[in-house]
Amino acid sequence: MVTKTTATILDGVAIANEIRAGMAEKVAARLTVGKTRPGLAAVLVGNDPASHVYVKMKRKACEKAGIQSFYHELPADTPQAELEALVAKLNADPAVNGILVQLPLPKGLDEERVLQAIDIRKDVDGFHPLNIGRLAQKGRKPLFLPATPAGVMLLLERSGVKLEGANAVVLGRSNIVGMPVALLLIEANATVTVCHSRTKDLKNVCAAADVLVAAVGRPEMVRNDWIKPGAVVIDVGVNRIDDPESEKGTRLVGDVAYDEALGVAGAITPVPGGVGPMTIAMLLSNTLRAAELADG
Ligand code: GUN
Repeated sequence: MVTKTTATILDGVAIANEIRAGMAEKVAARLTVGKTRPGLAAVLVGNDPASHVYVKMKRKACEKAGIQSFYHELPADTPQAELEALVAKLNADPAVNGILVQLPLPKGLDEERVLQAIDIRKDVDGFHPLNIGRLAQKGRKPLFLPATPAGVMLLLERSGVKLEGANAVVLGRSNIVGMPVALLLIEANATVTVCHSRTKDLKNVCAAADVLVAAVGRPEMVRNDWIKPGAVVIDVGVNRIDDPESEKGTRLVGDVAYDEALGVAGAITPVPGGVGPMTIAMLLSNTLRAAELADG
């Protein structure tokens, strides 16, 4: 069967590359006028393979944009006090404009306390309780928006979707994506429903969405009959599944059954190549802003 393709593919790689090129130009311009080179410190605790891949990509993107990349890799059994002491050292280091502690942290570490220890002016992930708290309140602005949610909003903007009054459904309520995306959609005057594992009649709730953001981490959970014809579908999921036909024996898929969705959605992000590259571009953009804040 040949699936009829109707959806516009939202090319996160192309948009992210545009942003990254702009970042590189702005960094170069700073240096020309004698300002500091922006610096991002990445902290990775433990052995989560996906986290290692993500942090490597972030560091590489920094270097390409002319942002200095600092890297601290700590064992999974690092004591809380040691991790917080590292954060304090990075807070005090003027060469470090942004601090990124890759999540999730290994069991036994108190994530909230670590995030709270980050100087809010260096919180380029936007996960400090103060930044998230401001995001959750009307008329208050966080210093930084979390990178993935900010990338989702930019993709929506580029898709030309009118968010005001739109029915937006967010599938997933994580601190990193689902909740902050929902808050940003509310701020954009969408009517927002957040779905989770206890949601009743999930398929039909999703099928009422003009904008569907899938961020649950379940491979290809969203099928074509979960999607309203013409809806904008943003797939945040990155799931590795077995694929005996591929060279590696595995491949990446999103939370949306992409081939099916192509025939129903108005616009959709691919996995890989949709939201992922936008996350990295937004992180660089936040780091540059942190350097500008430090300029005074
Ligand atoms: N883990 C998954 N996404 C992210 C992210 O954007 N930032 C951090 N620090 N950890 C993550």
